[in-house]
Amino acid sequence: MGHGGDVINELTTDHREVENYFQQIESLPSGHQDRRKLADEMTIELVRHSVAEEMYLYPAVREHIEDGDAIADKEIADHARVEQALKQLEGCDVDDPQFDRLFITVKNEVKAHVEDEENNLFPKLRMACSQEMLDTLGEKIRMGKKIAPTRPHPAAPDTPPLNKIIAPGTGLVDRVRDFVTGRGRS
Ligand SMILES: [Fe+2]
Repeated sequence: MGHGGDVINELTTDHREVENYFQQIESLPSGHQDRRKLADEMTIELVRHSVAEEMYLYPAVREHIEDGDAIADKEIADHARVEQALKQLEGCDVDDPQFDRLFITVKNEVKAHVEDEENNLFPKLRMACSQEMLDTLGEKIRMGKKIAPTRPHPAAPDTPPLNKIIAPGTGLVDRVRDFVTGRGRS
């Protein structure tokens, strides 16, 4: 959800939220039914975060950071790998042994991505951009999140029924991505 501050604060707080989902899932025993709901919520947050980065962060990285194209391309490839694992996870029964394996894959991929961004990309962005630019990007990302599926903004009249978007099961990753990018909306 919207946190406040510049783009780096906003995205860093997202990272902590996702790590919180990892901890909550891990605190439950394998096969526990609540892991399904938490995994679906985690998926929504992760896809929403990835889309926000792709729409607002990486264009700025390409524009302002030396070697920005290579960095952005790598981050986008990271996202694609995470989403591939999330797509397998969404169709997996919680008591299937694959569920735990896929969850660990997602967690490890995301942890590497988070470390890379926080230790490498964000410091470079802070060096390359004015505070005003970083604030504007943070605001754009928050605007995008107001129509986010977990808590739809009441002023967004084109928000489809919540359960249609976050209904668990196959297609969750694609539905969230389409919803946040606005693809498929008339
Ligand atoms: Fe990120």
